Amino acid sequence: MAILYGGDYNPEQWPESTWQNDWDLMKPIGINSATINVFSWALLEPEEGKFDFSQLDKIVEILKKNHIQIVMATATGALPFWMTNKYPQINRVDTYGRRQIGGKRENACPNSPEFQRLDKELVEQLAKRYANVDNISYWHVSNEYNGYCYCDNCAKAFRKWLKKEYHDDLERINHAWGTNFWSHTYHSWNEIIPPMKIGDAFNNGKPVLSGLDLAYRRFQSDSLLNNFKMERDIIRKYDSRPITTNLMGSQKDLDYFKWAKEMDVVSWDNYPSFDTPASYTAMQHDLMRGVKDKSFMLMEQTPSQQNWQPFNSLKQPNQMRMLSYQAMAHGAETIQFFQLKQARNGSEKFHSAVISHSLSMDTRVGKELKQLGHELAKLPEDLAKAQNNNQVGIIFDWNDYWALEDCIGPTKNLDYVQEVFNFYRALYERKIGVDMISKDSDFTKYKVVVAPSMYINSSDLTKKIESYVQNGGNFVTNYMSGIADRDDNVYLGGYPGLLKHVLGLKFDETDALPFDHQNKLIADGTIVGKGSLLCDLIQPTTAQPLAHYSGTFYDEKAVMTKNHFGQGYAFYAGSRLDESAMNFFIQKILDQVSIESDLSKCDVEIVERIGQQASYIFVINTSSQFKKISNPSPETIDLLTDQKTQKTLNLKPFDVLILKK
Ligand code: GLA
Ligand code: ZN
Repeated sequence: MAILYGGDYNPEQWPESTWQNDWDLMKPIGINSATINVFSWALLEPEEGKFDFSQLDKIVEILKKNHIQIVMATATGALPFWMTNKYPQINRVDTYGRRQIGGKRENACPNSPEFQRLDKELVEQLAKRYANVDNISYWHVSNEYNGYCYCDNCAKAFRKWLKKEYHDDLERINHAWGTNFWSHTYHSWNEIIPPMKIGDAFNNGKPVLSGLDLAYRRFQSDSLLNNFKMERDIIRKYDSRPITTNLMGSQKDLDYFKWAKEMDVVSWDNYPSFDTPASYTAMQHDLMRGVKDKSFMLMEQTPSQQNWQPFNSLKQPNQMRMLSYQAMAHGAETIQFFQLKQARNGSEKFHSAVISHSLSMDTRVGKELKQLGHELAKLPEDLAKAQNNNQVGIIFDWNDYWALEDCIGPTKNLDYVQEVFNFYRALYERKIGVDMISKDSDFTKYKVVVAPSMYINSSDLTKKIESYVQNGGNFVTNYMSGIADRDDNVYLGGYPGLLKHVLGLKFDETDALPFDHQNKLIADGTIVGKGSLLCDLIQPTTAQPLAHYSGTFYDEKAVMTKNHFGQGYAFYAGSRLDESAMNFFIQKILDQVSIESDLSKCDVEIVERIGQQASYIFVINTSSQFKKISNPSPETIDLLTDQKTQKTLNLKPFDVLILKK
C-alpha cells in the first residue's frame, strides 16, 4: 500500500454535484485517502434513534469509485442539538459551575450515561454498516479528545473511581491528601467534590489540595479514555482494522502514555506557528512516536496557513514539504491534512486546504502538494514503518506536568514542556536523536536517560534509577526532581528526597528568581553561562561539583554536579541553564559517554530511520537559508531525486534529501 496521503474531507458541507470534481482535482496530485464523517452526527441521526446513512453511503461510494482509501471517523466529536436540548446533562459543566449549551465540539460530559448510551448506539450502527467496506484503512474515534467536566455525574463517577484507587478506604484518602489542611477532612464520600475554581482553588486559581487535583486529572483523563475504549470495543466487534484517535502532542489534559496503550496506532495533529522552532516540532513528533514507541500517523497539518492563531502566516515555498518529511523522519507513516477542501463558511473558512477557494490546483501550494504527492508515491513502504534507534531517552510524564504546573510556589514561571524542551533542544542541535520515554520504559536501552524536573518519585522508581546507573547508565536530572510522592506529599529529610543517594547531593533551599534575574555560573574561574528560574543551593555529598553560582549570597554552592555511582554517573543541574551553560553541562555528559554529536550543521536536521531493507538518512534544511554541509553519508542515492550524492551537499531553503544506505 502506498503511503497514505490525504486528510479530512467534509463533502456533506458541499452540494453532491461538486464531489466528483474534487477528485478530478485531487487524484492527479496524488491524494489517495480521505478522513470522513468526523462531525456528521446530526446528519446521521436527525432525531433520537432514527438513523440515516444515505449521504454517508454516497460519500463512501464516490471514494470507492475513485479508489480512495478511507479513514472512517465515528462522528462523535460534536453533538446534535436535539441531544443537547433533550439531555442538557450531556453538556459539560465548567470549572466555574456553568452548564454549557450545544454548539461547540468535544464538549460532552464523559460520564453522562445518556451520552454513553447514545454514543454507543450510533457507533454500533456505523461499525456494523461499514465494517465490510474494503477501502477503509483506519477507524478514527471522535476527534481531539480534550478538556474536563465538573458536573454532578462526574463527581459521582469520581467517587467511584477513588473507591477503587484507594481501596474503598476514606481514611486512606484523608491521609494521602493531607486533608486536615484548611478543614478538608472528609467524613463521608459525598463530601468529595471536583476541584473547581469556585471551590478548591487558591486566589491564583491553583488548587488548594494538590492530591485532590492530581486525582481529578487522572480521573478525567481516564474518563475520556473510557469513552474512546467504549467506541473502540464496538468497532472491534465488527472490524479488525486499526483504530486511532487524533492526539495533540504535549497538550496537558490527557495522559497519552496511558492512552497509547489502548490505541492500535497513534495519530496526531501538527500545527506549528510562524515562530515555532523546528526543534520544538521535532520534540512533539518524538513524543507522539514515544507514547507508543511506534511509528504514528500525521493525521492533520495544514497545506499553508491556519486560521486560529493570532497571526496565520503562509507557509513559505517548500516549507510544507519540509514539515511533512520532518514528520516522517521522526516516525510518521502517513501525511494527512486538515483539510482537503477549504470551507466557504463557518469558523474555518480561512483555514487553508488542499483545494483552496480558488478551486484550482495550479497554484503555488497546489504545485507543492503535487510534487509531494508524487514523491510519496515512489517511496518504499519499508521507510514508513522504519525504526528510530536512539541512545538518549528523555522522560516525559503527565503527572509531573500536572503537579508542577498546578503547584503554588516556588515560582509561577515553571513551564513543564519548556523544561523538557531545554534539554531536548540542546541534544537536537548536536544531532543526537532522542526517544521521549515514560518512567515505565526500559532505561537500559539508553546510554543516557534525562529526567527533566521529575517531580514525582517512588521507591520503586528510585531503585530502577539506581540500578540503571549502578550498571553503567547515565542519569541526568535537575531542579524540582524527586520532591514528592504520587499524592504530592514531599519526601522529608532534604531535597531531592529519595534521589539523594544516586545523585550524591542534598539541599534544603531553592531560590526562585524573578523574571529577568539570572545568576552567573562559574567553573574553574570562568563564567560558563547563567542560571535562571530556580537555584538549588546544593551541598554535594559524594558528587563532584562542576560549576557554582556567583554574585549571590550562595555563591559557593554547587549548581551542576556529577556523581560516580557504581559503574555509571548521575548528573544534576540545580538551575535553568541558558544556552551556554547547557552547552557546558551537556559536554560534561558527552565527555562521559560515547555518542556521536555534531554542532556544526546549524539548522539542518539529520535523522536516521532503520528499516527492514535499508537505512534512511533524512537531511532536512529547516531554515529559509541556503546551507552548505558535508554529506553524512556520501555516495548514497537520494530517494527524492534518484541522484547519487556528493561529499558536500548544497541545500536550498527547506530542502530535503532522503539518503538510502
Ligand atoms: C483541529 C481539528 C480539526 C480542525 C483543525 C484546524 O486539529 O481536529 O477539526 O478544526 O484543528 O486547525
Ligand atoms: Zn460531567
